[in-house]
Amino acid sequence: MSALLRVEGLHYAYPGGAEALAGLDLSIARGRRLAILGPNGAGKSTLLLHLNGTLRPARGTVSLAGRPGDYRRRGLIAWRSRVALVLQDADDQIFAATVAEDVSFGPLNMGLSEAEAAQRVTEALEALGIADLADRPTHMLSGGQKKRVAIAGAVAMRPDVLLLDEPTAGLDRGGTEQLIALLDQLAAAGMTLVFSTHDIDLALTLAEDVALFRAGRVAAQGPAEAILSAPDLLAEAGLKPPLLMELWQGARARGLLPKEAPLPRTAEGFLALLGG
Ligand SMILES: Nc1ncnc2c1ncn2[C@@H]1O[C@H](COP(=O)(O)OP(=O)(O)O)[C@@H](O)[C@H]1O
Ligand SMILES: [Mg+2]
Repeated sequence: MSALLRVEGLHYAYPGGAEALAGLDLSIARGRRLAILGPNGAGKSTLLLHLNGTLRPARGTVSLAGRPGDYRRRGLIAWRSRVALVLQDADDQIFAATVAEDVSFGPLNMGLSEAEAAQRVTEALEALGIADLADRPTHMLSGGQKKRVAIAGAVAMRPDVLLLDEPTAGLDRGGTEQLIALLDQLAAAGMTLVFSTHDIDLALTLAEDVALFRAGRVAAQGPAEAILSAPDLLAEAGLKPPLLMELWQGARARGLLPKEAPLPRTAEGFLALLGG
């Protein structure tokens, strides 16, 4: 199987800091949704910054569709248009005066004409459900709106892969639910999703695959159902199983659900199973 993104033997230390990535291996298949799960300081953000070429490995390689990363200027522009990163803090990402201007930055930087870029902006704002915000000054946005603008900026490049660092950090429950619905739509449209989180319930709701990070390495990688149902593995990474996983296992053990009942991804899905 050829991976869309592959990381081999990655080592990285911040200047003057300890080693943030310590020989990390990871492969990401096209069209999948991967959650990178792990405690603070495990190296999740540092890895994401390597996946779009923002950071360059001290040792090891990052390859895209079988080719080693090209860290020259033009190579990086092409790379970042195929692998777009949404930073944890939207304020680190949004800097233009208006929403439309901000979202047009990526397409213009890729070398598209003004007209093509404008088309991309319209399309991205519509996909994110924020067409009405096009002319809004970026300093007049709520947290949830800012997050959408940052994602629109990434989507406007029509990337193959969308990387999101802690996408629900700072969002309230409503904002989180909207974001999940949005990411579901993007995935259904064929986008490969990679997101970091320390929210194990989010990983269960959204991910097909999970990579557990611990101390700058991947401690385990596999299907979400397998990884998220292994308490020992999770404990090593300082995590506990998702609440829904415990309810599902408990309901099967008590005969409230048949043994073959599929793992539900949402509370509604669990109630639907119980309701028959
Ligand atoms: N800008 C930075 N300068 C120095 N050290 C950093 C910087 N960013 C992260 N680190 C360190 O690198 C390690 C990995 O951090 P990070 O990738 O941010 O982890 P995570 O995203 O999983 O919380 C941690 O020990 C952290 O303190
Ligand atoms: Mg982080």
